[in-house]
Amino acid sequence: MRASLLSFDADPGDDDKPREGSVVHHADGALWWQNGKIIAVDDYSRLAPRLPDNISIIDQRDKLVMPGFIDSHVHYVQLDIMASYGRQLLDWLNEYTFPEECRFADYEHASLMADIFLDELMRVGTTTAQVFCSSHPTSVDAFFGAAQRRDLCMLAGKVLMDRHAPDALTDDTLGGIRDSERLIGDWHRNGRLGYSVTPRFAPTSTRTQLDAAGGLLRNDSSLWLQTHLSENLGELDWVAELFPDSHDYLDVYERSGLVGPRSTFAHGIHLNDGMRSRLAERGANIAFCPSSNLFLGSGLFDRQSARALDLNLTLASDIGAGTDLSGLATLKAAYQVGQLRGQPLTAWAGFHALTRGNAVSLSLDDRIGRLAPGMDADFVVIDRHASSLLSRRMNRADTLTEELFTLMMLGDDRAIYETWAGGRLQHRRQH
Ligand code: GUN
Ligand code: ZN
Repeated sequence: MRASLLSFDADPGDDDKPREGSVVHHADGALWWQNGKIIAVDDYSRLAPRLPDNISIIDQRDKLVMPGFIDSHVHYVQLDIMASYGRQLLDWLNEYTFPEECRFADYEHASLMADIFLDELMRVGTTTAQVFCSSHPTSVDAFFGAAQRRDLCMLAGKVLMDRHAPDALTDDTLGGIRDSERLIGDWHRNGRLGYSVTPRFAPTSTRTQLDAAGGLLRNDSSLWLQTHLSENLGELDWVAELFPDSHDYLDVYERSGLVGPRSTFAHGIHLNDGMRSRLAERGANIAFCPSSNLFLGSGLFDRQSARALDLNLTLASDIGAGTDLSGLATLKAAYQVGQLRGQPLTAWAGFHALTRGNAVSLSLDDRIGRLAPGMDADFVVIDRHASSLLSRRMNRADTLTEELFTLMMLGDDRAIYETWAGGRLQHRRQH
């Protein structure tokens, strides 16, 4: 493919100017892939003479190609309850979320929703996500099956809950762990799929279940872990009440061996520096979910304090509390939250987070997140002139920095012209 190519080889930092050597940009570039893997990336003039004679070149010279976007925390089972009005976390879970998740006991429904969800992800250029299913194993089989048919790199897991939820969603404590073991056996490292052990959050698991989830991780260090941490003040009080022996919320997870380099903790809004340092020491990551935090009124994430302590961060939509699946919309919300904290997000930091940054923090950077030889051929083709307004503003942009910032503030799903994953065209905009 011939296009303008943008990728990151390192973290650009948070200054206006990206760190030396972090940005790789080929204004007139060539991306060569075969059998789902990238073979070479270079200026078109340098790579063209090396290409085999029989290769077909897709000319996208007016487009910008980046690695496929990554969403580190999203609930596919909540797609249909997005925009459910006016509650904060705990009421929102009870009134909207739990009743909706009950529907995923039905394999047909789960399969249909998995396909609808993946169609939507492709439409917004997200080629990898770490996904919460429901507590029903059927919801996980349906999701992984749908992802595998499309040859996508996806992480997912069965929600573990053995208390404080409707009966239809509640595990028998160890039965939930046995279900997880079966799913791990069937899906973990099966092609491009990976299993993420998924205790929902501390209030809905007993200590016994959290310990058993930690046991799964001890048995296999290649597993991922996803849960929620310190999102909402009412939640914090409840955790303190339920786990009186723990000195803070993070300690609840630490005691069960759930905090490691492949662990993602969604939100982490109400943390102190001691907790941030403990997370950083273990190499765990916090998923910053800006549109969700705004929607549920959970708080304004302090990105700078986390970065100052070298805490790994990821960026996520957190649908259904999030209000948009799109990575571009998530960047816009992250910028806005940052502005309210006096911590504006540069376009460099933003697009790095959506691609290589999320891949590194999720330990997926050996496969995805960059346009580089040996990486999986997952990428997004962006139309910087997708709407007349975007195009007018883009024509005023004199630098790549300005173009990227315009894209992150004014771009939406129309800017995603094509999405490729596993070397296959997964989506092309219809209009
Ligand atoms: N905490 C526990 N479960 C959830 C969930 O489904 N969404 C969000 N945003 N927070 C949670
Ligand atoms: Zn969530």
